[in-house]
Amino acid sequence: MADTITVFKGDGIGPEITDSVLRILDAAGADLNYEVFNVGAAEYEAHGELIPKEGYASMEKTHILLKSPITTPLGKGFRSLNVTLRKKYDLYANIRPAKTNSAVKTAFENVDIVIFRENTEDLYAGVEEMIDQDTVHSIKIITRKCCERIIRAAFDYAVSHNRKKVTCVHKANIMKMADGMFRDIFYDLSKEYPDIAADDKIVDNVAMQLVMHPEKFDIIVTENLYGDVLSDLVSGLIGGLGLLPSSNLGKDFAMFEAVHGSAPDIAGQGIANPTAFLWSACMLLEHIGKQDVAARIRKAVDLVLEDGSVLTPDIGGTATTVEYEKAIIAHL
Ligand code: NAI
Repeated sequence: MADTITVFKGDGIGPEITDSVLRILDAAGADLNYEVFNVGAAEYEAHGELIPKEGYASMEKTHILLKSPITTPLGKGFRSLNVTLRKKYDLYANIRPAKTNSAVKTAFENVDIVIFRENTEDLYAGVEEMIDQDTVHSIKIITRKCCERIIRAAFDYAVSHNRKKVTCVHKANIMKMADGMFRDIFYDLSKEYPDIAADDKIVDNVAMQLVMHPEKFDIIVTENLYGDVLSDLVSGLIGGLGLLPSSNLGKDFAMFEAVHGSAPDIAGQGIANPTAFLWSACMLLEHIGKQDVAARIRKAVDLVLEDGSVLTPDIGGTATTVEYEKAIIAHL
């Protein structure tokens, strides 16, 4: 029987890349049923809810969500739907693999880094307090439980994926208690993984080292905010946000999404790169045991990238999203 997954279409470039990715999944023989929902700002204006109740109900039934980007308006009113979903379903491990593709020319070679970003706490806990008219406290929450599970997830992944090293990224020189605890737990747990090298670095240094010597990094485990910022930096090393997928895993639920946002600057132009979202869908397929279909799609993408004649503008081409999608389907 076909597996059923929940799909959120999102805003901005979300609907465009979702349509392309679902067509590629079908053409590859993924054999999935989709329960598709419009979510985000447009859905709120039309029906008064950012995510329809049926969307949550579907997620609670299928436990697997393929989610395209959602705009988060700045300022008051909206809490980020992305943060809401990650917290609601306790999707604590945000896993972001960034690998050089030799067909995409950048100034960097041999980048092969997986970022493990803690997804449920830190400054994203949303605890902000107006102290007086001119003073806001935004509270950073770090708990032993959440540190342990993300660090364990990073080491377990290192073992299962034959990786060599996990680097703990923090700012313990300044946040001695919060980041100090993160670092201490990291070294305590690292003793359980004697075959994996463990080291730690301060986040600002990491920003520089990633640009100077990205090949020295293997797996990075870090808190929520640092992971957010460093992910975009790392995407720049491999050709941009159009190429960085992610999974958000918890005990009971899993969500797969591109790292990028809704790209309002190019929305509606039909030129968004769907690769990051497609590779996120491949991570979904691997999660549900369809490794063969994922491999077929990954191979087709590699062939299109290598060929180089049908690429979207962000990676140096002139093709539209749909032309790129068709080229992938032709290589399946
Ligand atoms: P963004 O990631 O949407 O875009 C940054 C830059 O990368 C833009 O120039 C954009 O055109 C380009 N870009 C991103 N994805 C691309 C793709 N697939 N193909 C080609 N070019 C691509 O970041 P921005 O502009 O800061 O955020 C826009 C909105 O998205 C905000 O409301 C933000 O809160 C939201 N957002 C949502 C996320 C999610 O749903 N998981 C993640 C990040 C941001």
